[in-house]
Amino acid sequence: MSRRTLIAGNWKMNGLTGSLDYFRELAPVAADSAAEVLVCPPATLIHPVAQACRGTRIRVGGQDCHARNSGAHTGDISAPMLRDAGASHVILGHSERRAGHGERDMDVQAKAAAASAAGLVPVICVGETLTEREAGQAVEVVARQLAGSLPENSAIVDLVIAYEPVWAIGTGLTASLTDVAEMHAAIRERLKNPLTTCILYGGSVKPDNAEALLSLADVDGALVGGASLDVTDFSAIVRAAGSGTQLAR
Ligand code: 13P
Repeated sequence: MSRRTLIAGNWKMNGLTGSLDYFRELAPVAADSAAEVLVCPPATLIHPVAQACRGTRIRVGGQDCHARNSGAHTGDISAPMLRDAGASHVILGHSERRAGHGERDMDVQAKAAAASAAGLVPVICVGETLTEREAGQAVEVVARQLAGSLPENSAIVDLVIAYEPVWAIGTGLTASLTDVAEMHAAIRERLKNPLTTCILYGGSVKPDNAEALLSLADVDGALVGGASLDVTDFSAIVRAAGSGTQLAR
């Protein structure tokens, strides 16, 4: 069975309502792409972005959700709320949330279960720190994160994994193609649905390295931070995934 290619942008804490022209430029690029295109703006923009993208091939996602559907959780956003606002996906367990908000694998797992129950596709992030990689523990760390973060019923859940080495995020450093290939193969081996689960690479993906990364057999797309803020750069990365006239892997 073939896997889709997914090019996803994570805007992190960037973007105001004045940023919506972006989608007028991105829409024709997405229309011509072999890849699915997803943009995850801050929560305040999910609804306006979903409105701006109606009738296009651009999907909209959240950057986090709470594990409960409603209740006394000031400042949090639930999975059904994201869905209601127009999201189809949600990024979970990003290293910035693991580091900045103390999110543990078990929290990510609970959020992933809530997300899929609400009809969202969880995009579960994993990745080692530089110290862990230098200690030769990268695969072991990522395997542990996967085991703890995937929902218990992952065999029946539509999900996406994003391998984002922490040291490659926002630094301009990318993992070598050999290391990415090795890690993606190691991740795929540990999945319940290895043939159909999309595994993205993230960490300083740019127009000039996207094609090489996307050409690796187990790399099914990219999760793009900084370069997704610039519609020209993000469009170039989407184009690197091939046009709609080519067969998606
Ligand atoms: P950069 O592309 O800015 O390195 O960010 C990657 C990332 O964290 C995407 O989720």
